[in-house]
Amino acid sequence: MGYQVYVPSFQDSNGDGWGDLPGVTSRLGYLADLGVTIIWLSPIHPSPFVDHGYDVSDYRAVNPRFGTLHDLETLLGEADDRGLRVLMDLVPNHTSAEHEWFGQARHDRHSPYRDFYIWRDPGPGGGPPNNWVSRFGGSAWAWDEEAGQYYLHLFARSQPDLNWRNPAVAEEFDSIMSAWLDLGFSGFRVDVPHVVLKHPDLPDNPLVPEDQVVTDVRGSREWWRFQHRYDMDQPDLLDIYARWRAVTAPRGAMLLGEVNITDPGRLRRHSADLGLDTVFWFGLIEHRWEPDRFTEWTRKALDGASGLVWVLSSHDRPRAPSRYGGGATGRRRALTMAALTVGLPCFPLLYQGDELGLEDAMVPADQVQDPLLRSGGATYARDAARTPMPWSATPGLGFTDSPEPWITLGGRTPGQTVSAQRRDPASTLNAYRRLLRLRADDSDLRHGKLRWLPAGQGVISYVRGSTLVVANLSPDPATITLPEGRWQLTFRTDDPGPGHQAMGTAEIPAEHTWILRRD
Ligand code: GLC
Repeated sequence: MGYQVYVPSFQDSNGDGWGDLPGVTSRLGYLADLGVTIIWLSPIHPSPFVDHGYDVSDYRAVNPRFGTLHDLETLLGEADDRGLRVLMDLVPNHTSAEHEWFGQARHDRHSPYRDFYIWRDPGPGGGPPNNWVSRFGGSAWAWDEEAGQYYLHLFARSQPDLNWRNPAVAEEFDSIMSAWLDLGFSGFRVDVPHVVLKHPDLPDNPLVPEDQVVTDVRGSREWWRFQHRYDMDQPDLLDIYARWRAVTAPRGAMLLGEVNITDPGRLRRHSADLGLDTVFWFGLIEHRWEPDRFTEWTRKALDGASGLVWVLSSHDRPRAPSRYGGGATGRRRALTMAALTVGLPCFPLLYQGDELGLEDAMVPADQVQDPLLRSGGATYARDAARTPMPWSATPGLGFTDSPEPWITLGGRTPGQTVSAQRRDPASTLNAYRRLLRLRADDSDLRHGKLRWLPAGQGVISYVRGSTLVVANLSPDPATITLPEGRWQLTFRTDDPGPGHQAMGTAEIPAEHTWILRRD
């Protein structure tokens, strides 16, 4: 079971208003108790924080705002003692413009670092060299006065893309990755790995026909206007993956790719034997409540690709209960989805606060920091999913003693806090604890052979070994025929009590998941 810790907002230990590494260490007991086995830490390197740490200015150091190298070693040591594996967030596609490499590159055409980035002279009309757009809005090319050329940035202007066609870049990253694995990390969550390699000729991207442009919760209309044929997912990307695997595999470390491709056929090569060990499956996180799509896509994804990590929320997307309608309905639907994914191969991953049923926080418009929104790349501010973990109903939510946290506390209520939910047997936290405990205790849910069972519209049903999972996402109760035998109910979305037995058929309420175990 994985868990994403968004470090700046998890736990502040020194009262400066920022979450930090000693704060994470102090909460490892909470995570282990929850049933977590793999933790992904959001970026911890020095950074000007334009893109909240995804703009790294030194890959070899720890951001003093989060603590020291010693604090990190303590965290890794204590995690290891508890059997928790910790993944570092590796950002290979771009650096911060404040990275020393970029400073040298823009300053000196003959510097060995010039070719670490992608530079071009103006296009024929005098403007940018091609029609590529930045994920954060506007052209993907920025004119640099000092360098006298354009540089490529697929994200913010202050995040110049690295040139992975230069072997020296790959060598640097081999060394960076090795050093962190030697320190005790168990692998990497790799930021946008599918875009690191671009077509060598940088051709224009073709346009998507106007009536087929998707927007939904994915933000930036401009980005989705193009088929990203030449700025991502290039055939020789597999060579880069193989190179990373050569660093991680001998040490038994894991690569978890943030590959935002939802077509299982195209995603297949990014994971398992050819690609990274595991990849996030974005098919469930990109959408609002769409039962038919979820049931169809989950099966398609699993039939088409392997090594999928199941996520419903992250620091980049509206939180699941908000996407699913908000309030008690949104929370129930999110728990139903979490229970659906709990037995899917290879593992589900929670975002901090999922276990509390947190919805998006309230962030006043004048306090929004997200560069994606500020640059016009989206209509949604990711800040709403990034506010502090509510640990207790104190003025700083048990997150900080500072009267000025780095980001608004987000208007959380006492009932949303860990301490209140711990005491309430019917809380969302206790439901997640039961669900995660079940996954830990029932090895069939982790290793059993998966078999789909026939199911009606909006219903998905599978058996793993002697365990049966039925998710009824439809708006009506669903009657299902149980496979032969006597079944014991071990989890249901709405029930804090011990399970009962069922035989023959079972009626699953609308928008509920049941998990049953053969007696
Ligand atoms: C990933 C990160 C996101 C960041 C982007 C650019 O998608 O999750 O937060 O803005 O990469 O690094």
